[in-house]
Amino acid sequence: MESEENVLIARFLRRTAFFIPPSTSLPQGAGTSGKLILCVALCLLAAILPAAALASNPEKEPAPVVDMASWWVSEGEAASLAVIQRHVEARGLGWRQHVSPGSGTSRYWNVLEEWLAEGRPLSASQAIGFDIRDWASRGMLANLDAIAKEEEWDEVVPHGIQRLSKYKGHWVAVPINAHSTNWLWVNYPLFSRLGMPEPDTWDDLLKLLEKAKDEGIIPLAIGREPWEHTLLFECAAAGTGGAEFYRRAFLDLDEGALEQGLVEEIFRRMSVLRSFVDPEFNFRTWDEATTLLREGRALLQVQGSWVLGEFRHHGLKPGQEYSCLRFPDTQGMVLFNADQYFLFKNSPLSDEVRATLASALMGIEFQAELSTATGAAPARVDVPREGFDPCGRRSITDMRNANMRRTMMGSIAMGNANPAPVKEAIYAVVNEHFLGKLTDREAAHRLREVISAAAGADPES
Ligand code: GAL
Repeated sequence: MESEENVLIARFLRRTAFFIPPSTSLPQGAGTSGKLILCVALCLLAAILPAAALASNPEKEPAPVVDMASWWVSEGEAASLAVIQRHVEARGLGWRQHVSPGSGTSRYWNVLEEWLAEGRPLSASQAIGFDIRDWASRGMLANLDAIAKEEEWDEVVPHGIQRLSKYKGHWVAVPINAHSTNWLWVNYPLFSRLGMPEPDTWDDLLKLLEKAKDEGIIPLAIGREPWEHTLLFECAAAGTGGAEFYRRAFLDLDEGALEQGLVEEIFRRMSVLRSFVDPEFNFRTWDEATTLLREGRALLQVQGSWVLGEFRHHGLKPGQEYSCLRFPDTQGMVLFNADQYFLFKNSPLSDEVRATLASALMGIEFQAELSTATGAAPARVDVPREGFDPCGRRSITDMRNANMRRTMMGSIAMGNANPAPVKEAIYAVVNEHFLGKLTDREAAHRLREVISAAAGADPES
C-alpha cells in the first residue's frame, strides 16, 4: 500500500505536469528528504519539459493573430468576410476582425484613423483605388515585393489593378477581387411580366423604365449615398461618351475631352434617370435598394457586382429570379473596382507572417471561392471559371477581354480612377445635381471646373 503522503505528492506532481503518467507513484520507503529531492527534481522537469516539447514541436505554438479591418457590413459582405477568415485560418493564422461601414469613403477612413490612434493592433485593412497610394505616401504600408515576386503577381494581376496595388513601382496591397460597376441588375419575374426586349441601348432602357413606371413598379432602385449617384453617373458617362472619352476625361483628366455639349448630355440623362427613382431613395443604403429588387418591388438597379453577393446570399436563382446586363452602350468596357488589403508596416507581425497573409489573400482557390460569394471576378486572370454562376462567368470573360483591349478602366465612384480629393469633388457635383440643386448646364460647368483644376496634379505625390 502506498502511504497517504506518497499518494498526495504523486497527485500534486500529476496536476502540475500533464506529462506524468497517471500510474506514477513514489517508491515505498523513501525518506522525507528523499521525497523532497524527488519532488523538487520532478517539479523542475515539469517546468522544463513543456517548453522543450514546444520548441521541438512548433505547431503547438499559439497561432499569430491577424487583426483585419474592413467595411463589409451588409449580409452578403459579412458572408464574404467569413470566406476570407476561413482561408486565412487555414494558413495557420488566428483572425480578429474590425468592421465599420463606409464602402471606401472618408466615413470608413476616419474610423480607421481613430482605431489606429486608440492603439488597436491592426495588421491590415481593406482598401480600394487611390486611397492605397495615400496610405503608402505616409510611409505606413509594408512592402510586399518579395512575396509578389515569388508568386509572380506581375504576371497574373490585370494591368489596371496593378497600377493601384503599387506605389512608386512597389507592391503595397493585395488585390482580392475585381468588381465591376457598369451592370444593370434585373428582377427577372418583373422583367418577364413587362414583355420587353433586353435593353441594349439608351433608348431601349428608357422604354423599359417607362413601361415599369406605367405598371406601378419602381423602375430604378438606388440609395442615398453620393458614391451611389456617382456610380450611376459613370455608367451614363461611359455610355454617352464611349471608352475613349471616359479614359481621357476621368483617368487622364484631360479637360479637352470635356466638351460642354457632351457633358451636359450626360447630366441630362442623369436627370432622366432621376425621374424613374422612387421618392424614398434618400433614406436607404445600396443594399436596402437591392432588397427592393429581391422582393419584387423594383425592376432595376445600376450597381457594382457586389449586388450579386446579396442575391447569392439569399439563395436567388440566376436566369429565374435575377439576371445581369451591361449598362446600355457600355458593352465591351469594364469599369472596375478591386477590393484590396494593405498591411501596416508597424504592426507587430513578423515578415514571415505578413508574407503568409498576403499569399493567402492572393491564393487561386481563395479568390475563386471569394468571388463566387461576392459576385466579383477574381483579381487574377488565371482562375478557372467553373463554379461561377452565369453573371460571374460573364464578369470573368468581360474582364479578360477588357484587360486585353485596355477598356478595363477604374470606377470614378469607387476611387479607382482618381485620388480622393478629385473623387470627392466629383461626388459633390453629381450628388447636388441628383438632388435637384444644380441644372444640367450648371453641373456640366462645375464638372469641367473640377477636372481642369485636377489636371496636371501628380497622382503619386
Ligand atoms: C465597395 C467594395 C465592394 C462593396 C461595396 C459596397 O467599396 O469594394 O466590395 O462591398 O463597396 O459596400
